[in-house]
Amino acid sequence: MDWDSKIASNVKQIKPSGIRKFFDIAAQVKGVLSLSIGEPDFAAPDKVLDAMKKSLDDKETSYTANSGMLELREEIAKYFKKHYKVDYDPNDEILVTVGVSEGLAMSLLALTEPGDEVVIPDPAYVAYPAAVELAGGKAVPIPTYPKDDFKVTVEALEKVVTPKTKALVLGYPNNPTGTMMTAEELMPIAKFVKEHDLIVLTDEIYCELVYNGVKFTSFAALPDMRERTIVFNGFSKAWAMTGMRLGYICAPREALAPILKLHQYAIMCANTQAQFGGITALKDCDAEVESMRQEYDRRRKVIYKGLCDMGLPVFEPRGAFYIFPDIRCTGLTSAEFCEKLVQEEKVAVVPGTAFGDSGEGFVRISYAASMETIQEAIKRMSKFVDKYRK
Ligand SMILES: Cc1ncc(COP(=O)(O)O)c(C=O)c1O
Repeated sequence: MDWDSKIASNVKQIKPSGIRKFFDIAAQVKGVLSLSIGEPDFAAPDKVLDAMKKSLDDKETSYTANSGMLELREEIAKYFKKHYKVDYDPNDEILVTVGVSEGLAMSLLALTEPGDEVVIPDPAYVAYPAAVELAGGKAVPIPTYPKDDFKVTVEALEKVVTPKTKALVLGYPNNPTGTMMTAEELMPIAKFVKEHDLIVLTDEIYCELVYNGVKFTSFAALPDMRERTIVFNGFSKAWAMTGMRLGYICAPREALAPILKLHQYAIMCANTQAQFGGITALKDCDAEVESMRQEYDRRRKVIYKGLCDMGLPVFEPRGAFYIFPDIRCTGLTSAEFCEKLVQEEKVAVVPGTAFGDSGEGFVRISYAASMETIQEAIKRMSKFVDKYRK
């Protein structure tokens, strides 16, 4: 069978994730210190695990409602109201998904017609452009720059918007740069999307992980934005529940109904045990989340200082668990830097180019790793940068 000729052309065009590719190279080198994974090094809180175990003891092994357990949707609605003063009706404006990943994929399938353009700040999380292209749309990068700490600007948006532009994807706190946009900074973007009648897909998965007293505000909480915004969030990062695959979408009911239709057929419902864990995560784990956030913050300060001390230009990240130093002083490309660093010093970080063309000259370092790993990795990187510095 000639499978190649049978595979859908839009799938063939999608490049495999640059993170995965690099991760595989690093996995072949023994004793590597990995700062390449965007995944907490903590386990989920014990209370979450207990709730999941109890649901098994209680033989709660059936499907839930397609949109997720009502109790979980109610907790999500409360969370939104408490943090951002935005109301979502748990009955038909919240959908529990298999992580943000599923939420994004289903939403883009529900929204995208062939030829629709979806604008995405570059660099960006790898799944955004792929999800747009798989849905038949055109992913249009919006370049962002180190001088702006990689924040998206109206100026850059104006250059890429066309009559075919349907949606804007936002992801703050940001993977891969660690940049954060406050409500005040997002206001001009809100004005722009209203003027151009765009939908906003906002991935707020790192909303709990902000530092230096920065306040996170959901894009949906900005004036007039709730009606045109689809919010994605989940339990993978702040609650360290990546493997449970649990996330959610909050959106106006007219937007959510078609997404639910796709979710019903493709997924049925998110995992039942994970949903029991999610209820406890929202009800009862603020202290655990705060203690992990504080630990990331300590590591963030150490790695920021370490990179500054080795003379790499870098801005201080305000969110998520990534830092994005400028490595151009070495004369190496992002890919060369990462390949040589892993071969010569056994430290794995990810080329900025895995996240888009604007990432050239930068590398993504994840500080979701132990303090000892971070300190040793800084020593090795410092030696490496000294060797190549031009
Ligand atoms: C910005 C961003 N969004 C979404 C995801 C995936 O989230 P989930 O585990 O909820 O599918 C990740 C994972 O790295 C991420 O960094």
